[in-house]
Amino acid sequence: MITEEKLTELAEEARKAADKAYAPYSNFRVGAALLCEDGSIVTGVNVENRSYGLTICAERNAITTAITQGKCCFLALALSTPDSSTPVGPCGACRQVLSEFMSPNSPVRFGGNSTETIDTTIGELLPLDSLHDLKK
Ligand code: THU
Repeated sequence: MITEEKLTELAEEARKAADKAYAPYSNFRVGAALLCEDGSIVTGVNVENRSYGLTICAERNAITTAITQGKCCFLALALSTPDSSTPVGPCGACRQVLSEFMSPNSPVRFGGNSTETIDTTIGELLPLDSLHDLKK
């Protein structure tokens, strides 16, 4: 069970991370914070490219950074988009990648630059994920 305090801390880490985004083309910063099973928090930001399609989303950067650090299981995710007034959720590709490493009941919180936040789960973001447990 993830406490409200932990989710708040995760959201703050996502917000701080967003300041490190490299987003000179969209001017749309995204910060992601993953709560790892060992209690640590790993962050990621969006990294854009002048060849637009090479842009990497904050969520996937957080996941690959954490995996590279030897962390494999994540309990919760927070996402911050400080350049939007309304909360913005993960893109479709990120939903798929997040679901590879998180269970459907894992909490996800996202927020923009207002007090409005959305609380959901990995399973709600990627419903009917029948291949979730394909791993042998
Ligand atoms: N972006 C993310 O980092 N995560 C998402 O889930 C959606 C979009 C980034 C990509 C691009 O740098 C900017 O937000 C605008 O789409």
